[in-house]
Amino acid sequence: MKVLIAPSILSADFSRLGRDIAVVEKAGADWLHIDVMDGHFVPNLTIGPAVIKSIRPHSKLLFDVHLMIGRPDLYWQSFARAGADLITFHVEAAVSVRKLIKQIKEAGLKIGVSVRPKTKVETLFPLIPMLDVALVMSVEPGFGGQEFQRSSLGKIKAVRDYINKKKLKCRLQVDGGIQASTALDAVGAGADVLVAGQAVYGSGNAAAALRGLRRLIDNYDFSSYNR
Ligand code: DX5
Ligand code: ZN
Repeated sequence: MKVLIAPSILSADFSRLGRDIAVVEKAGADWLHIDVMDGHFVPNLTIGPAVIKSIRPHSKLLFDVHLMIGRPDLYWQSFARAGADLITFHVEAAVSVRKLIKQIKEAGLKIGVSVRPKTKVETLFPLIPMLDVALVMSVEPGFGGQEFQRSSLGKIKAVRDYINKKKLKCRLQVDGGIQASTALDAVGAGADVLVAGQAVYGSGNAAAALRGLRRLIDNYDFSSYNR
């Protein structure tokens, strides 16, 4: 399966968000990763539905909305109405996980579930048959620009093995600290969607950075990784 790259606008210039999105769209971004934080589930506040609604008419990219919020059951519909295509919420959030997965799917959206680094990745396994995306966090959620936690590689591999063994279609997304060096290890372990914030928008040239990441992955021989 093609490895997708989802630039995270968390590291974009919010005063020129439309332009920063157009740049990565033109440079070949596959999805647009939108980080939503509530100052409760994570110690930071970011983007709400109003921002998503205002950027929606300016981009054809799949809007990959990562809800790092405590009550996704109360807010997901606002994000759906604003233009989200994929909604990913955290398994640690205080909700009935299966019920919420069903509701989001029934609304015609793609559905993802995520685990923080401290949560057992096996928590995802029984859910994976219902999911479009399993998201393994490779940093503690809350901020861009953190260092990739190498302990996530074993978890990525475990999820990849499970998806393959059960012949499921679920995508395996990895989020946090992805850059040239870590991207190859994440893909080698089995990731097929990479989120990249600082590596793209913090580079000074988002288009070149994104194309560089794309080339690196497409040209690398992963056979030694035994994917
Ligand atoms: C972290 C967010 C990430 C973040 C990744 O809580 O969920 O999506 O934007 O940023 P980088 O790629 O800079 O680690
Ligand atoms: Zn994210």
